[in-house]
Amino acid sequence: MKKILFASSETHPLIKTGGLADVAGSLPIALSELGQEVRIIMPNYQGINNYEPGRYLCTVRVNNCDVNILETHLPNSGVIVWLVDYPPFFNFPGNPYVDEAGLPWPDIGDRFALFCRIVVEVAMDRAYLNWKPDVVHCNDWQTGLVPALLSLEHHRPATIFTIHNMAYQGVFPSTTYTLLNLPGQLWNPNGLEYHGMLSFIKGGLSFADRITTVSPTYAEEIQKPEFGYGLEGLLAYRRDILSGIINGIDTSVWNPSTDAHITQTYSADSLPDKKLNKTVLQQQLGLPIDAETPLFALIGRLVDQKGIDLVLSCLPEMTHLPLQFTLLGSGDKSVELKLLNFARLYPEKVAITIGYDEHLAHQIEAGADMFLMPSRFEPCGLNQMYSQRYGTLPIVRKTGGLADTVVDTLPGSMADGTASGFVFSDAVPAALLEAIKRSLVLFDNKPVWEKLQRNAMSKDFSWLNSANQYMELYREI
Ligand code: ADP
Ligand code: GLC
Repeated sequence: MKKILFASSETHPLIKTGGLADVAGSLPIALSELGQEVRIIMPNYQGINNYEPGRYLCTVRVNNCDVNILETHLPNSGVIVWLVDYPPFFNFPGNPYVDEAGLPWPDIGDRFALFCRIVVEVAMDRAYLNWKPDVVHCNDWQTGLVPALLSLEHHRPATIFTIHNMAYQGVFPSTTYTLLNLPGQLWNPNGLEYHGMLSFIKGGLSFADRITTVSPTYAEEIQKPEFGYGLEGLLAYRRDILSGIINGIDTSVWNPSTDAHITQTYSADSLPDKKLNKTVLQQQLGLPIDAETPLFALIGRLVDQKGIDLVLSCLPEMTHLPLQFTLLGSGDKSVELKLLNFARLYPEKVAITIGYDEHLAHQIEAGADMFLMPSRFEPCGLNQMYSQRYGTLPIVRKTGGLADTVVDTLPGSMADGTASGFVFSDAVPAALLEAIKRSLVLFDNKPVWEKLQRNAMSKDFSWLNSANQYMELYREI
């Protein structure tokens, strides 16, 4: 049995902006089911949905700040969550990274530097909690200073740094380094310095005992300039300790046969029951109710990564095809406006919901026929796995975790029963459109379509396998 401190800037269902929260809210549960003692540590944001109010444990003083540690649990599990409570930094409306107007917190470096210092105090058992982890598992740049600061300690726990996205690195001007009062030994090009600036992610990449990322394909991709964003050299240099472990999904939250968000539950053995969800969804979205018209969906952050520009380029032609399209997401304002414009021009074909809505996300997964994920890069991606579980066939670009989890429909994969979606390679509109058209042809062939749905629904995306791979790494270090 190992003691694991899991540090994350977001955890579902306490607070979520993207897939990191899904992972932080489900991997620790899988690890504890395998007999590990796991504690999650995260900031105590104002926006947290506290199912159980945090109980005060202690106050720790770091860098002239008195920081409280509160204790709560992940709902429906015994996993303990320690909340790092420092109201001057975290008691504001908004999400972990931006304010209510969508602007990045100006003091975001200070906030996560403080969070990292507290993680280090807890990891070294200097926070009066009487618990010392064997492993500190860090996630993304917000926790990057932890492996760096721990490298200066004697008798420290081992460290793992998991990259969920290389596009976000936590880079700040060199003056921030001084203002944060960070130790001088770490300020060099082999440490936290990145072209004269402070890089949080380099703390993880340079000092962690093991680096992981969230799919085997992404682990290779980030060693190349296109996906490494300037750190491909460092990653290639550390390739012996770098590996890709595909994310699992929370199969109790994303389960079409028990999902309380959807109108009609169903399974691979009762596929006709899925239809009622489509009818209800079409009605709710104001689209014509028609079982025979294929309904394409997309849910996600509207940022460059997700390839929304490819969808925007395809939409004019899509509106001439026999299909409907719905999107749920928010992000880039100009993209939001363009999408809303399509919905206004083609109300019979296009329905756009700007915002963040978990309930609707489940209804879309259950009600749609196809799910678009034309990402330019995708470290893992979760929605293509949710979609497969819901018999909603994903159309994905061959990159990162999408390449590792969706099997293209080809004669060979149809014959051996592995085909579970549609995959295209080039990040160009024509390639996406071609995949969309391929799916339209098969949608009209009901026996084949249902076979593909059953293939997709029978795939195992649970955490068991991946949690075991993390356990193997914990044992090694
Ligand atoms: P990323 O972490 O890059 O955003 P992932 O596919 O790993 O991408 O995870 C995204 C998660 O956030 C999924 O659980 C998805 O359903 C959810 N999500 C994204 N946008 C929305 C939204 N507008 N409403 C509801 N859920 C959303
Ligand atoms: C990041 C990635 C996404 C991944 C998620 C969880 O947000 O963009 O691909 O699924 O982290 O690891």
